[in-house]
Amino acid sequence: MKKILHIDSSPRISLDSISKQLSQKIVNILSEKYDVEVIYKDLHKEKIPFIDNDWVNVAYKKTPRTDKEKKVLECFEVQSFIDADFMVMGSPMYDFNIPSILKNYIEHLYISGITLDYKYKSLVNPKKIYIASSAGWNYKGKEVEKDFEGMFRKAFEFLRLKDIFF
Ligand SMILES: Cc1cc2nc3c(=O)[nH]c(=O)nc-3n(C[C@H](O)[C@H](O)[C@H](O)COP(=O)(O)O)c2cc1C
Repeated sequence: MKKILHIDSSPRISLDSISKQLSQKIVNILSEKYDVEVIYKDLHKEKIPFIDNDWVNVAYKKTPRTDKEKKVLECFEVQSFIDADFMVMGSPMYDFNIPSILKNYIEHLYISGITLDYKYKSLVNPKKIYIASSAGWNYKGKEVEKDFEGMFRKAFEFLRLKDIFF
């Protein structure tokens, strides 16, 4: 059984959202090929808080965490990311960047001792990451496309995940 973590970050409903339609198509293709379990997160419904002072202190802490500190990390469900064999992310281009709600999700993925060890070795299951992006204009082969894709590459390469497809 392969685990797919399917994330959408457009606020638009599926019938209007191109990135949502694309991400769903990728999930459908994977589901035809493998026996899968899909976990779906629409970030506009998840209401993940922004990281704050407490979160940063706890997430990057090197010594073992107290129970109270562990509670701070419970504002975010990270296990589905750790376990996934495939990650499929719908991402519109907003102001030449990724949507802030998706950036917020990614910020929560860096947790010492849980997703990263102290030497920045990944602790997560190796996975293929598919980015289903949409934009108003066509930037094929242009600097804008490279920068946009580069944001995902850098963020996930830091977690030692290099199999990223656009
Ligand atoms: C706030 C906002 C910012 C946008 N910025 C850009 C942009 O910088 N470049 C671009 O080509 N399209 C831009 N667009 C257009 C969207 O990328 C495009 O409509 C895309 O299909 C939206 O994704 P969705 O269909 O999944 O909602 C922007 C749209 C919005 C709402």
